[in-house]
Amino acid sequence: MSDYTINPMTSHETGAEIIGLDLCRHVSDEVKKKINADFAKYHVLVFRGQKLTPPQFAAAGEIFGPLMQHHHKEVRIGHPDVYEVKQTEIEPGKYRIAGGSFHTDHSNHPCPPKATALHTVSLPSYGGDTQFVNMHDAYDDLPEATKQRIAGLKALHVFESKFSPRKLRPLSEDSAKELPPPTLHPLVRTHPENGRKFLYLNPVRIEAITGMEEKDALALVAELMAHATQKKYEYRHKWIMGDMVIWDDRSVMHQANADYDMKELRHLYRIMVEDNPKHWIAEGEKTLAHAAA
Ligand code: SIN
Repeated sequence: MSDYTINPMTSHETGAEIIGLDLCRHVSDEVKKKINADFAKYHVLVFRGQKLTPPQFAAAGEIFGPLMQHHHKEVRIGHPDVYEVKQTEIEPGKYRIAGGSFHTDHSNHPCPPKATALHTVSLPSYGGDTQFVNMHDAYDDLPEATKQRIAGLKALHVFESKFSPRKLRPLSEDSAKELPPPTLHPLVRTHPENGRKFLYLNPVRIEAITGMEEKDALALVAELMAHATQKKYEYRHKWIMGDMVIWDDRSVMHQANADYDMKELRHLYRIMVEDNPKHWIAEGEKTLAHAAA
């Protein structure tokens, strides 16, 4: 008997649904290995029919690796590594939505997360989908001249870029103390598990590209974003109660949609999975060597 059924959600290996697995129960090492192989192939996995408490959600996330702390310590819920996502009314009738434009999570860290996962607590009656775009396919389709132009370029990622398309939730005093300094990351990275190249972009946090004039750097990021967010690279997730969705923060960008009735609560638990710092150090060195050549 097979452990679970997996159904691809697109024709381009971005997103797959997993049916028949109860993440409250023990998951064997063999099944964990299989799940991780499917994750490296599909980049976004949707586990249907789950009902997880914060500690159970944290344990489910650990199938993919040790968990990582969020910037905003003040939005923790029920477990030291579990945070919550919900719309916040910042002034009468005006709401802040976490993740409301395409980005990858915590890219201002020296070692940003491998993955992020969300699990439903409460959903609006319509809207609030999460969109994912495949950054491997976006890279592969770039014209050769663009690939050559961006090879070896590094972007400076800060907590909130002065060019960010949206305002982030302000940091509390305690959270601000733990913020890492601005960090350089290559625009093109190689995925440590599947070996494919991908674009590593985040307009919320990118403030500069080394060796480029500000206006040229901004124009390049805008050009790459327009290319990478085309529908042909997308899996659009329509949430159903009981979903746990995990995505690879290296191979996809994501965005939440603010198209629902703000009087209805959209509430999800959120965790992040650590990446291996060795991948980032190795890539930083490769980029430097390329720049020097
Ligand atoms: C996020 O970007 O962290 C949240 C995404 C979502 O709520 O769909």
